[in-house]
Amino acid sequence: MNLILGIETSCDETAAAVVAGGRRILSQVVATQIDLHRRYGGVFPEMAARQHVQAILPVAQEALAQAGVGWQALDAIAVTQGPGLAGSLLVGLNAAKGMAWAHSLPLIGVNHLEGHIYSNWLDAPGNRAEKTFPLLVLIVSGGHTDLFLMRGHGQYQRLGGTIDDAAGEAFDKVARLLGLGYPGGPAIERAAAAGQSAAYDLPRAWLPGTHDFSFSGLKTATLRIVQTLETGDPASGRKLTPGTPLSPRQQADLAASFQAAVVDVLVGKTLAAAAATGAGEICVCGGVAANTLLRQRLQTESPLPISMPPLRLCTDNAAMIAAAAFFLHPAAPPAPVLDQDAIANLSIHTLAGV
Ligand code: KG4
Ligand code: ZN
Repeated sequence: MNLILGIETSCDETAAAVVAGGRRILSQVVATQIDLHRRYGGVFPEMAARQHVQAILPVAQEALAQAGVGWQALDAIAVTQGPGLAGSLLVGLNAAKGMAWAHSLPLIGVNHLEGHIYSNWLDAPGNRAEKTFPLLVLIVSGGHTDLFLMRGHGQYQRLGGTIDDAAGEAFDKVARLLGLGYPGGPAIERAAAAGQSAAYDLPRAWLPGTHDFSFSGLKTATLRIVQTLETGDPASGRKLTPGTPLSPRQQADLAASFQAAVVDVLVGKTLAAAAATGAGEICVCGGVAANTLLRQRLQTESPLPISMPPLRLCTDNAAMIAAAAFFLHPAAPPAPVLDQDAIANLSIHTLAGV
């Protein structure tokens, strides 16, 4: 099973990629919907699904064309089955079923989070070619912030995760609060470049004795500062709505202070988990792993070798879905399996007894 076409439509990117041997990216096509959703300040699920319908076939065909392969050269099709937005998942899954059926190819359903994990296995700058198990995985995306100890392919022990907001969700909400727009992570990173991270004293939730995270207190503390700056009254009752009279200096300083607080906790808790579990290597993945400060701090402070995919493989893409299918399903079913369903809240299968 060497050549796999990956399909990913779990959120707001329609993506297809052809990957050889689970590592070599022959093509990677992403049709982003960012401009569409920007005017709503976040992903509008119904619009996302409709956009996927329009984009999925051209994107898949483009991935094959860029790879220079035809349908008959493929060994399997891999598609994100969940977690994600139900309507968006269904578009990708049904399109992939149609392609598998039409071309008599095996169809492999992939967990989106395992896709993010396997982005670390792709041949790309920042990824280490050889991996030594057990390794520590930090998934930081819009929907998840999780630490796993990975003992082998498909073998995960969940160490902890967020008890409220995911890190990316916090970036998105605070960006909206600061009037910085969507998507929040890159907007905060840009604004923070002109700000002072020590300007505001924001809380870090260390949750000692656990490998869990919490970002909602940090979000609320940022809201209180914004309320005070705007009205002089922290109890003014302003909600997380777009548009703000903050000055560019205030925006930049708040963005920098918020980003520093999130990164402090992510770095501190990841390194502590690695030390506590005896992991030999750290793999970081998910959209927030595109954050430059997080990357720099992990790179300089980690005593262990660290894998971090390049930015285009941190955010949602289909190469990671094809890679996960390759490593998790060495023997694909011989015929298309068409009875799989989209599962919006699909979770990672963790090792029993942990
Ligand atoms: O993995 P991803 O593309 O989609 C999900 O599976 O959720 O992650 C998207 C998240 C968004 O919350 C976005 O704001 C965040 O990743 N993100 C960033 C950066 N780029 C994307 N967060 C911080 N800094 C960035 N540079
Ligand atoms: Zn994702």
